[in-house]
Formats: sequence, C-alpha cells, structure tokens
Amino acid sequence: MHEKTWWWPVATESELATEPLAVQLFDESLVLWRDGAGQAVLMTDRCPHRGAKLSLGSVQGGQLQCAYHGWRFDGTGQCASIPALPGFVPPATHKACRHELREAHGLLWANMGGAQFDPPALAGLPTRRLIYGPFDVATSAPRAVENFLDTAHFAYVHRGWLGEAGHPEVPHYDVTHTADGRPVIEQYKTWQPRATASAAEGGWVTYRYEVLSPYSALLSKRADAGGPEDSYVIWACPTSEESCRLWFAQYTSDETSSDDTLRDFQVEIFSQDQPILESQQPRRLPVNGGEVMCAADRLSAAYRRYLQKAGIAYGVC
Ligand code: FES
Ligand SMILES: [Fe+2]
Repeated sequence: MHEKTWWWPVATESELATEPLAVQLFDESLVLWRDGAGQAVLMTDRCPHRGAKLSLGSVQGGQLQCAYHGWRFDGTGQCASIPALPGFVPPATHKACRHELREAHGLLWANMGGAQFDPPALAGLPTRRLIYGPFDVATSAPRAVENFLDTAHFAYVHRGWLGEAGHPEVPHYDVTHTADGRPVIEQYKTWQPRATASAAEGGWVTYRYEVLSPYSALLSKRADAGGPEDSYVIWACPTSEESCRLWFAQYTSDETSSDDTLRDFQVEIFSQDQPILESQQPRRLPVNGGEVMCAADRLSAAYRRYLQKAGIAYGVC
C-alpha cells in the first residue's frame, strides 16, 4: 500500500502517559506505551502468545505486561519474561510486532513499513503552539482535509464567525504548487465577522493555504487591519478508510488570549463542521469524478489531483 511510505500521526505526545494507549491506523489496532527510559514505543495491539490486546495490559518496570498471562515485553518488542516459567529465557521468536515511531510537532508519528518521506516540515510559524483534539470523525481523512481547504462554506457553516450570509462569494484566487507538487494558495482575501478568538469586530482577512502531505494542510491568516498572526494545521490520522482522528495545531502570535479562549474558538468552529462532514456521501473522497465542481473549488480540485499523483488509494474512491 503506497500510503505506508508516509508517516502518520497517531497521538499527541501529551496524550501518552506511561500506561498503554490503544490507537488505530489503516484499520490496524496498535498500542503506544513508554518504556523505562520514557521512550514512546508502538506495537501491534496483539500479544504474540494468545492474541490478547496488549493495550489491556500495564507497564511494569519499564516493560509492557500482557493482561492475560503476564508476559512482559521490552521496548524492542522482545519478550523478556514469562511468569509461568520462572528462570526461562524467552527466545528471539517470542516477540511482539513493533513499528517505527517518531516525534514531530508535538505528535507521535507512525510508519508501518518503508518510509520514504519525513513528517511534513513547518517553518516560520509563530512560536506559541496549542494542539486541539483528538476529534474522531466518521468520514475519511481526505474529506476532512478537503473541508479544511474549502472557503465557500464559510458563509453557511460558519455564519457569524468566519463568514456571513451577505458575502457568500469566493473571490478569484490562484492555485500554485510547491516544487514537490503540493497545492498552495498564496493569497485569499475574505471578509470575516469574527476571524479569531480576539477579534472584536469584522474585517478583511488574508489567508494562505498549503497542502502539507496527503492528509494534512496548513492555513495562515491575518486580519488586514493588523492583530495576531494565526496558523492552523490539520493533522489527520486515517484510522480506517471511512473514519479519521483529527488534531488541529494552532501557532499564534496572540500572547494575551488564554489557552481556554483559543481552544473554545477552534472547538466551536469544528463543531460547526463535523455534522456536515459526517453527512457527506460517499465517505471516501471521490477523486475520479462523481461530484460536480465549480470555479470556486479550484483548490479542492488541485488537492484531488495531488492525491491521485501521490498514488493515494486509501480513503478515496
Ligand atoms: S496472551 Fe499475552 S501473555 Fe498470554
Ligand atoms: Fe469549516
């Protein structure tokens, strides 16, 4: 599967304490835990002994102990001890299936074999970072990302916040591409009643959009009248072809609004999107036709072409 050549976020760093955390990627049940050195470890959530879920177990002395017969596994996946056989040294065949894991941007990224690309790079963003989520959504990851790139819904779904009924028009914008073929809009102007948590009144706002990877994208926005610079990233984990887990990372130069105020704003915006997203049929993103496009959808069209060129077949139809 071509998607396996990428890294995918499976949890934020702060979601993972020491105890095992069950996550899912590409329909596969996985378990995250931290070994004695505090290193995050990712394994298939299945004990090699009798197939019990390792996430039901616990971390003991820096090792993951299965809840069924107490076998313990170290951070490499090797079985270190079998309580039913004291003194027995488990051979190399007694091993849980471990996967590659990396930390980037406050999230833990999994690779399920043969990584060809690094997690997306972020540069030049404001330094204050907040991560919201996880949000579990009953639609495919590419449907969620396409919605993040869509501006024509602001006047309807986010009326009074990111758009208003009197201004549904989408002004002309140009889609360009990065050297590696990711779609970008350098400048998109829109009038917003309440563009940010700290906005007291409406005004013109300039957006910049960039697709970062098949299931992630960045938008940066700033009110033309000044005020904080805000960038948002959508990180989507494809839990299955028709479901995803999302996080939104905000990078902001707003040093005065509280974490709660900023979070409440983004949570409110996404609560407006979620019912629409979960109503869309099919849940997989149709990249081969089957939905009608208009000129306001240029970025969505470019995103779909990008997925096709990248060979993405998961979560699309
Ligand atoms: S099933 Fe895990 S120890 Fe037996
Ligand atoms: Fe939206």
